[in-house]
Amino acid sequence: MQNETEPKFTSQFQREVYQGLTAYPKYLSSKYIYDKAGDKLFQDIMAMPTYYLTDTEFLILEKHKEEIASYFSNGDSFFHLIEMGAGDGKKTKILLRHFTEKDINFTFRPIDISQNALDSLKKNLEIEIPGLKTEPLQGTYFETLETLHFNSEERKVILFLGSNIGNLLHEQAIEFLSKVQSYMQPNDLLFIGFDQKKNPQTILNAYNDQEGITAAFNKNLLVRINRELHANFKLDKFIHWEVYDPETGTAKSFLVSKENQKVHIADLGLNLSFEAWETIHTEISQKYDDQTVKWLAEKSGLQVITEFTDSTNYYKNYLFKKSV
Ligand code: TRP
Repeated sequence: MQNETEPKFTSQFQREVYQGLTAYPKYLSSKYIYDKAGDKLFQDIMAMPTYYLTDTEFLILEKHKEEIASYFSNGDSFFHLIEMGAGDGKKTKILLRHFTEKDINFTFRPIDISQNALDSLKKNLEIEIPGLKTEPLQGTYFETLETLHFNSEERKVILFLGSNIGNLLHEQAIEFLSKVQSYMQPNDLLFIGFDQKKNPQTILNAYNDQEGITAAFNKNLLVRINRELHANFKLDKFIHWEVYDPETGTAKSFLVSKENQKVHIADLGLNLSFEAWETIHTEISQKYDDQTVKWLAEKSGLQVITEFTDSTNYYKNYLFKKSV
């Protein structure tokens, strides 16, 4: 049995781990995979030949950068290029470099919660793309969009790349997009990457590699709980499992317990029991088609202006504006 009284939590991480692992069925948020080791493993995932997402979006941006530039600059008017979740900016740099070379009139405004990440991105961009104006925005997406909202004379083009939207179930995606939409003016644009439905095997191969990189990545959640909350998860007693439903387009990642086992999380005063084959759900990676994207847009007060893809149609970047 699980403990009955909730302990006092000293962090959001503690609270979410407690809530997820005392729920039935159990779950953990994939956002906690990304510590230093998790970031490194995700770099390794992006470098795998079977993980087509990053490479495909890269190709799309490279192939269409001129057309994208002309949509964004809208007859050479100034805009703020706002990026939600810029990371190391690898893909965005394709656009930033091109826009800078073409003397397009814009400032780059990456949003991140971490001032550290923003500082190093800004420094790196100063070296790699001289002449680019970078003005980071520290905070959550909506806090920072709020601050720009009142400066409404200037156009905004908001980027959300990497199929990050796919971490949200449709209902949550609509809530998210509606909120972004509420910060947009009629001339503002929103540019989002959506991974597409495709051969289900191709999707499974991207999320379940032979070498076990994705398994190590997913299990990094347990590594982190062991280290940061003084727990004793035995990593080899769990397997990484991926399923994909070609009808709904939802890929799901799990950690599955191979046997009956007990785990103690000291910092939460929590004794957990796992039955053999009990699951911890960790991640949603939603795949889309045009019809679904159009539906999400409509539900969120947006409309699709155009879309960009490559010859495989594995992935698409859609451009939206506020619907009138
Ligand atoms: N959410 C990302 C994606 O859909 C990252 C990711 C890749 C991931 N493989 C994973 C998250 C496995 C959890 C488990 O591509």
